[in-house]
Amino acid sequence: EPPTKKVAVTGAAGAIGYAMLMRIASGQMFGPHVPVELQLLETEQGLKPLKGVAMEIKDGAFPLVRGITQTADPNTGFGDADVAVLVGARPRGPGMERADLMNANAAIFAVQGKAINDAAKKDVRVLVVGNPANTNALVAAANAPDIDPAQFMAMTRLDQNRAMGQVAIKTGTPVRDVERVVIWGNHSSTQYPDLSNALVNGKPALDVINDTKWVREEFIPRVQKRGAEIIGARGASSATSAASAAIDHIHDLYVGSGDAWQSLAIRSDGSYGMDKDIWYSVPCRCPGDGVYERVLDIPSPDEYSAAMMDATRKELLEERDAVKHLLPAATRKQAGT
Ligand code: NAI
Repeated sequence: EPPTKKVAVTGAAGAIGYAMLMRIASGQMFGPHVPVELQLLETEQGLKPLKGVAMEIKDGAFPLVRGITQTADPNTGFGDADVAVLVGARPRGPGMERADLMNANAAIFAVQGKAINDAAKKDVRVLVVGNPANTNALVAAANAPDIDPAQFMAMTRLDQNRAMGQVAIKTGTPVRDVERVVIWGNHSSTQYPDLSNALVNGKPALDVINDTKWVREEFIPRVQKRGAEIIGARGASSATSAASAAIDHIHDLYVGSGDAWQSLAIRSDGSYGMDKDIWYSVPCRCPGDGVYERVLDIPSPDEYSAAMMDATRKELLEERDAVKHLLPAATRKQAGT
């Protein structure tokens, strides 16, 4: 039997956690033969509903589940974890400014970064889902000095899946035949869903679509604002699609997805001319075993793409600035702030 994967999930009793845990338990995250131990982290108030969620997982009688921990203590929750999915975050309350939300969440992710540093396996992979995801990943990584910041990622896979779905509908093609759609930058409405390199049935997507007005005036804003569109329809924010995207992200990272391109928001190393040390979504290949490799062999962006990539870069720099008091001195210096 393969070694058990210990998966920590924060916000485990929330909407995304509820939609995700059964799928992890059933083997969809690491493959159908890999046992899992679920380490579920909640707030004190969240422990009661979490107990119910844990009861339901037990009632699922999943052969792969080796244990379920329920805790409000980050050091216990992240203890010896192979993978941590950070979903729990403070939702925006009435009258709350964006900066207040940013600060409240950054404080949570600073604490969790420290706990991951102290308690998780040193080769842990961390996926941040809770918003503002990119900047939360920056804060968590900055507070985990003994762990390579490249192991911290923020999720833009939902945006990629949304974009691929829209291209599939527009071209009347199964999603399977849509490839190389890229999300650049922030998981926010400034993100750039880019079809410049995309293929539909192996042909350039922009040629198949042949409708620049649709791409710029319908496709891009729709993907950027899809979260709001879902809230408008459902009366609650996307949960099951977000859970599904998190499963996809970790699945591809460990099981591998060959030559396919996957968008991951990772620490910029200066590639694509980006500022270093912002968590910027870029296209990667995932060969498996927790590894990702940036796709670098692509043509330089045209003028339109360059402007779009720059707008979302600027937003990430502003976000980094807003949380700089939570970054340890060394990182502040690197960031030049
Ligand atoms: P929710 O409000 O239903 O659940 C959040 C849960 O996190 C609650 O049970 C809460 O008790 C818990 N929590 C809060 N602070 C915590 C802490 N410090 N430690 C442990 N648990 C904590 O929210 P939902 O719908 O599950 O969404 C969670 C987050 O995911 C939100 O920030 C949302 O904006 C974000 N999101 C991100 C997406 C992405 O594509 N990156 C897509 C959709 C949502």
